[in-house]
Amino acid sequence: MVNKFYITTPIYYANAKPHIGHAYTTIAADVLARFYKLQNKEVFLLAGMDEHGFKIQQAAEKVGKNPQDFVDEIAQDFKKLWKDLGIDYSGFVRTTDKNHKETVQKVLQMLYDKGAIYKGEYEGLYCVGCEQFKSENELADGKCPDHDTIPEKMKEECYLLKMSDKQTELIEKIKSDEFKIAPERYKNEILSFLESQKLNDISISRKNVKWGIELPFDSKHTAYVWVDALLNYLTGIGWDPVNSLCEHGASGELFNKFWGPDVQLIGKDILRVHATIWPIILMHIGIELPKMIFTHGHILSGGKKMSKTLGNIIDPDEMIEKFGADGARYLLLSAGPFGEDIDMTIERMIEKYNADLANGLGNLVSRVIKLAQMTNVECQISNQCQNPNDKILKLIEKLELDQALGCIWKIIADDNKYIADNKPWKLVKTDEEKFKEVMQKLLGDLNLIAETLNPFMPETSEKIKKALETKKLDGVLFMRIK
Ligand code: MSP
Repeated sequence: MVNKFYITTPIYYANAKPHIGHAYTTIAADVLARFYKLQNKEVFLLAGMDEHGFKIQQAAEKVGKNPQDFVDEIAQDFKKLWKDLGIDYSGFVRTTDKNHKETVQKVLQMLYDKGAIYKGEYEGLYCVGCEQFKSENELADGKCPDHDTIPEKMKEECYLLKMSDKQTELIEKIKSDEFKIAPERYKNEILSFLESQKLNDISISRKNVKWGIELPFDSKHTAYVWVDALLNYLTGIGWDPVNSLCEHGASGELFNKFWGPDVQLIGKDILRVHATIWPIILMHIGIELPKMIFTHGHILSGGKKMSKTLGNIIDPDEMIEKFGADGARYLLLSAGPFGEDIDMTIERMIEKYNADLANGLGNLVSRVIKLAQMTNVECQISNQCQNPNDKILKLIEKLELDQALGCIWKIIADDNKYIADNKPWKLVKTDEEKFKEVMQKLLGDLNLIAETLNPFMPETSEKIKKALETKKLDGVLFMRIK
């Protein structure tokens, strides 16, 4: 088996600055990427920006900028945030990249030539926020539940992609987990949707949206932004439809090594698109489907969806300033199960930061390092901690990230108690043998903590490792917040 791991995040709309929802998905992807790198896999983490479409055209117009200048700035904001959060991505696609645009045009031409795309007309209710047509039963009181807006009635000439002729094959692939949708309840949700109705062909072009990729066979239309966006997962690793049909050309090297994605992380708001349009496009062009789409829940702020109107948006820069990059990473991923909605408030984050990071981990590290300065005991990391270690690895593999962190924090809490119970600062004077035994355990555990924590909190992990080597801790790991 190829020792590779290809992971993707959604590409985010370049219509506004990033918020913690975006950070949540991307941090989780970075944790998995770092985790598999430590398992000696060759890893490719793809990130990027979704820069076309009406929503972005509108946002640029609103501030009097041309769309390209507008998205250039937002892309910088996202890149800066990823840097500040220690996101180690391997590729960054922007859908306005020349290569991406050319490839999208080639794919559309290919689909048109094969007869998978045909000219017609589409009538429906369009939500600009989602950049999607909505059926009546997806609305609540006539409004899009995600955006709380009434979708516009639209009827226009367009090109359509055939969907239903691939429906049975898609259902089979989802059922058999060849195309796995996780967690299980999202698989069931998609299967019941697919089994209850015949899929409508979807409009893949817009006539009145200028800010998009021109259809190669009809310049009066631009590509529907979701088709443009989904193809990033292929263009981001250098896929070229022409090369992939011939013998693998030079530009196909990354693609040949990494395709298909081992995990595609998405929020639940974009599951249906990823579980229908995306695999059906791939089936039409004859490319193997991703191995797994993993869907996570939403972050709520004070019990409500974050929005500018409610004024409850948690700013990622503010989080980094308060808690540091590792603190922000920890607080986001430990807040609740990855597949479910989780509620966060700044007050609760401060409480958790003080309890888990300043008191829990920070305190343990500084006590153990101080005690280690009293002895010559070397930190021999035996296999004594093999079991909890295995358990943590398995949890990360299953993307139960909060549980994995929970296990690490159980070791931290147990060790803090172990110190209080054994009082090694007394033992050093009364029972040297016992003192050595206690220290051996604590140093071994600290090493295990540093190792297992590495994908989650890379800087902290390095600091602990360095402190173990030098028996010296520079400063305080996490300062209590008032
Ligand atoms: N551009 C599309 C995705 C195209 S992928 C081919 C899009 N962009 S978005 O900017 O709206 O980002 C959506 C993604 O951001 C969600 O699927 C999720 O991963 C993340 N989140 C946005 N808000 C979120 C929360 N409040 N909570 C958690 N994640 C959320 O849709």
